[in-house]
Amino acid sequence: MSFHPSAVNGENQIPVDEEEQQVYNNLDEKLDRLLATLPKAKGWRSPNIFLHKGFWLSPTVFKGLLAIHEYFHPQPTDIFLAAFMKCGTTWLRALMFATANRHRYNLSDHPLHRTGPHGAFPSLDTQILVDFPVTKFDHLPSPRLFATHFAHDLLPTSMTAPRSTCKFVYVCREPKDALISKWHFMNKVRSKELTPLLFNEAYELFCNGVSEYGPFWEHVLGYWKASQESPEKILFLKYEDMKKEPSVELKKLAEFMGMPFTAAEEEGGVVEEIVKLCSFENLSNLEVNKDGVQKFNTQLMVENRDFFRKGKVGDWKNYLTEEMRERIDSITETKLKDSGLSLGVTKITLS
Ligand code: A3P
Repeated sequence: MSFHPSAVNGENQIPVDEEEQQVYNNLDEKLDRLLATLPKAKGWRSPNIFLHKGFWLSPTVFKGLLAIHEYFHPQPTDIFLAAFMKCGTTWLRALMFATANRHRYNLSDHPLHRTGPHGAFPSLDTQILVDFPVTKFDHLPSPRLFATHFAHDLLPTSMTAPRSTCKFVYVCREPKDALISKWHFMNKVRSKELTPLLFNEAYELFCNGVSEYGPFWEHVLGYWKASQESPEKILFLKYEDMKKEPSVELKKLAEFMGMPFTAAEEEGGVVEEIVKLCSFENLSNLEVNKDGVQKFNTQLMVENRDFFRKGKVGDWKNYLTEEMRERIDSITETKLKDSGLSLGVTKITLS
């Protein structure tokens, strides 16, 4: 007889039937077979990351990707929040949840006050493996909301093909700020058995495209191109635009989600109230985001406070030399050339 892997010290053991155990073993075996054949490099959080179809993945999320392909059943109304790491997922999570549920909850006594943004809806990449053998997500209200960091081309076509009616909200950020934010965050969650990742090393890896879910530029371009082809399916947002005009971007978001604000709501200040509820200042000062913990799976627990650092545009100026800036900007220019997308924000003023 086998037992549920989350049983602690032999207590609360939940028997697992053979079929369920088989699902889990299949994923592990498949993952081991794949990892043995793939190029590997130094990970930012775990010792190694592996190159799968052009993108670098840690073993944990790789297993999540296999589970998504084999066992995740998208519903036609599902909405996915997609982003490279540290580009504004926390903020968008809060905005999407508050917008989708604005008729269900009072904004002054809101679940976000108690759950924190990451408790509002699941991170598909890791939470698909929280229940044994895989999480079914059947209990979620419609439209179901999920977050993912996987590149567009890594996800199953049942989610991404233009014929599927699932929607994606993609948020991207100036790569230099994404690098700084990711370096800080990954050192916080980096395995304590490993030595800290030095900034110069992280910079070098990032420029070479080597970081979890990266390369950054290919990640952004995959969603950008798909959004150009199917704008009704993918909404492409920029963190910097949201900082500048949050109400304008929120209205775009609500419309895209199929829940536009009515004239009465706009006049009644609902848009501004949601912006305020989800602001960096408000969220980062909530007790749950100062002391709470988010459990992504058995191996990854993150303190909520680590999702909030500065929340500013242009912090890279405090870390990058002129030479470093030039190199990243030139990579960005080369990679985005002819795409119609611009991201290299070098003339920005510190806010
Ligand atoms: P910094 O490290 O530059 O401060 P993600 O949520 O995708 O992990 O991205 C984290 C980044 O978003 C961090 O950036 C964090 O401070 C910032 N952030 C978190 N919540 C925010 C909010 N409500 N508004 C603006 N930025 C926010």
